[in-house]
Amino acid sequence: MDSILVKGGGPLKGQIPIAGAKNACLTLMPATLLSEEPLTFTNAPRLSDIRTMTQLLQSLGAEVAALQDGKVIAMSSHGKINTRAEYDIVRKMRASNLVLGPLLAREGHAEVSLPGGCAIGARPMDIHTDGLSQMGAEIELRDGYLHAKAEGGRLRGTVIEFPFASVGATENITMAATLAKGTTVIKNAAREPEITDLVHCLRAMGAQIEGEGTSTLTIEGVDRLGGATHAVVADRIELGTYMLAPAICGGEVELLGGRISLLQAFCDKLEEAGVSVAETDKGILVKRNGGDINAVDVTTEPFPGFPTDLQAQMMALMCTAKGTSVLEEKIFENRFMHAPELIRMGADIDVQGGTATVTGVSQLKGAPVMATDLRASVSLILAGLAAEGETRVSRVYHLDRGYEHVVRKLSGVGAQIERISDE
Ligand code: UD1
Repeated sequence: MDSILVKGGGPLKGQIPIAGAKNACLTLMPATLLSEEPLTFTNAPRLSDIRTMTQLLQSLGAEVAALQDGKVIAMSSHGKINTRAEYDIVRKMRASNLVLGPLLAREGHAEVSLPGGCAIGARPMDIHTDGLSQMGAEIELRDGYLHAKAEGGRLRGTVIEFPFASVGATENITMAATLAKGTTVIKNAAREPEITDLVHCLRAMGAQIEGEGTSTLTIEGVDRLGGATHAVVADRIELGTYMLAPAICGGEVELLGGRISLLQAFCDKLEEAGVSVAETDKGILVKRNGGDINAVDVTTEPFPGFPTDLQAQMMALMCTAKGTSVLEEKIFENRFMHAPELIRMGADIDVQGGTATVTGVSQLKGAPVMATDLRASVSLILAGLAAEGETRVSRVYHLDRGYEHVVRKLSGVGAQIERISDE
């Protein structure tokens, strides 16, 4: 199993290209099941989660080809489709549940394994299944699988009000509604940029959807969808993560392809912390030339609020701030597993339930640490960039799920980082 070795230092200087969004690509790919025509994505990220979704869709009978070293994904789901998403693949990645809506819309029935628990919380699927039931699906849990069947073979439009603006449920119901009979209205829909990206792609395929980026989505069902070619939106979480690199160890880095509108709440917090953030014609320029980091409080919220997927990385920065900050996690109940690892590096963090109180220390110290989930793993790398000495992050398979070429990107701006094989 590989590890990442980071040596503290800085300042960083240069440019980092931002890839297409993992979370957008994972919801765009199942959209192939909604059409018999080819669907092509450009600007796709090269990640193990994308390979898992590829395997899942292939197991359902879709043709999926990675072209141009994986930057382009060409897909086609013509002919017979298998409607059973097996546990062996689904358990690897929760986003596998995004095939449920498209399968049900296309075939009128589907059997999708429940993904099971994951490290950051229970993550049930009740909002997805309640929504689909309101659209006329009968859904039963048997042998660990959701067995779903549309009454009369076709889902029907209705008004659905989500109890919480779930990202995955908004995506699943939106895709299901594109081929339903009549109009579906989703109230309290999630507004994440990845959903807007999905709507743009579905619209290019011929779907009738209005309201992306707002909390009400209106989808008028059509009889069939066509093909499309779509460029995946930039990964705002990768963007925010690399914006924190010069913030934590000083320097000046331009993030190519980034836009502040993808991350306004996060950029505001970074500026409050004393880091300069400016949009350029190529992306976003982040500068920290000397000066302390101010402690700032952060509460995670659905978009447009501060993203939960940047909480761990922000905590790494706050470990180096002057003063005490309070980080509240409102999306997932168990998302502070990076805290004990950061404490091993000399951080002062007190976790009580969903609140972490972080008091900045004058110097983090390198240590062997363990990645516990995707975003936690990269927060340890950021902390390692600011720490004195060497930090060895093990279990980096978490990192491979969501960050392409992390070593190449960070060493390209002067970080001392390498991947080593334990074999
Ligand atoms: C997506 C993202 C993930 C991000 C999260 C929140 C993908 C592939 N993943 O995950 O990176 O951290 O949004 O921004 O895009 N919930 C329920 N019942 C449900 C569905 C969700 O109770 O049926 C709860 C979850 O347990 C969690 C919260 O709602 O506490 C947020 O979940 P949701 O917005 O659905 O996140 P995901 O789509 O799983």
